[in-house]
Amino acid sequence: MSNSSQSLLFSPLKLRGLTIRNRICISPMCTYGGHGGMANDWHLVHLGQYALGGAGIVFIEASAVEERGRITYGDAGIWSDEHIEPMARVTKFLKQFGATPAMQLAHAGRKSSTQRPWHGMGILSDADTKARNEAPWETVSSTPELMDENWHVPHALTVDDLNEVKEAWRAAAERTLNAGFEIIEVHCAHGYLMHQFLSPLINKRTDQYGGDFAGRTRFPLEVIEVVREVWPDDLPVFVRISSVDGMEEGWNLDDSVAFAKELKSRGVDVVDCSSGGVVGSATARAVPRHLGFQVPFSERIRRDADVQTMAVGLIVDGPQAEQILQDGHADIIAVAREALYDPYWAHHAERALNPDLMSYDNWPMEYRWWLEKREGLVRKLRAEAEVSVKKSA
Ligand SMILES: Cc1cc2nc3c(=O)[nH]c(=O)nc-3n(C[C@H](O)[C@H](O)[C@H](O)COP(=O)(O)O)c2cc1C
Repeated sequence: MSNSSQSLLFSPLKLRGLTIRNRICISPMCTYGGHGGMANDWHLVHLGQYALGGAGIVFIEASAVEERGRITYGDAGIWSDEHIEPMARVTKFLKQFGATPAMQLAHAGRKSSTQRPWHGMGILSDADTKARNEAPWETVSSTPELMDENWHVPHALTVDDLNEVKEAWRAAAERTLNAGFEIIEVHCAHGYLMHQFLSPLINKRTDQYGGDFAGRTRFPLEVIEVVREVWPDDLPVFVRISSVDGMEEGWNLDDSVAFAKELKSRGVDVVDCSSGGVVGSATARAVPRHLGFQVPFSERIRRDADVQTMAVGLIVDGPQAEQILQDGHADIIAVAREALYDPYWAHHAERALNPDLMSYDNWPMEYRWWLEKREGLVRKLRAEAEVSVKKSA
């Protein structure tokens, strides 16, 4: 596959009533640049550059459905109507430049009340109150198990609490729609609240929300049902899972296949296949790293649950991404760190798939004319330089 015009990566993807311009997705990335959960100029420019950069789907970072579900004070959130307007400013810009805006709804559970990475990434303590007026708050989870030594002891959510949390997800999904997002994702991965129910390493409940697979998946599935209820039929729902815990006795790939079947039967359109996070950060190494290290999870879930999947994790260039799609191992390719490094990753992937491409049709109109002139000139000057080297040899 060398021609981007024939590539799968650059073919539009239809999901329910939505047509996405290509198969490249900017994965959700917390940037801790907010205040009070509000999207601001940072989010507009940071996310806006990915729309200019050609991605099909642009995810805003994990956004908290409840104030206490934030990871840090800098997280984005959508726990009140005040959050809608600033987010709508971002979605409007993304759509104007051809990208599909996507929201990742999240609740961090026992992983809440922590410092931003550059303040140490540990739990908040009195020192943070003194330094930045950022006091710790009470965290919640499936059970009062500690996340790690010396972490906050979470409050185990009662059945009444769970009903309230579910309503917070419903209200957040409604606000997400009002803010102009076209894809909604329920974050069930990386050791956050939903994963704290799914994983047998964390969930030690003895009521109907714990125990066997049916008990541990009950609460996440109830949340997904309320989200699907308020999300329009013509728009897709994604669910991000940790395909494996990567630890003995943990959630495994067979569990993920079984869960994906349950998701599909509840109207989930895409399973976003990540991994790990039960203990430590989302990027902690529970699974050995190699290029495309999570693609085998996506491949197996796609095949055995017969559901569309998104592959993510060390997918670094256009040819690698194209190959994953050609092999039938995923339907969408998500990139995170590569996009931080190169916000124009999608445009550069297109050129890597087709080195002869002269046109800049997929680039912003405002750049196109100049870049096409530049392309012609650089090629001409390179050819002339080659001729003169040959002559003088
Ligand atoms: C700065 C940063 C923030 C992240 N925040 C989130 C997040 O909000 N939600 C999430 O599901 N994953 C988050 N992740 C994980 C990424 O979405 C992605 O799954 C992971 O980085 C692997 O992809 P990559 O190899 O392309 O970076 C984050 C990763 C990075 C680097």
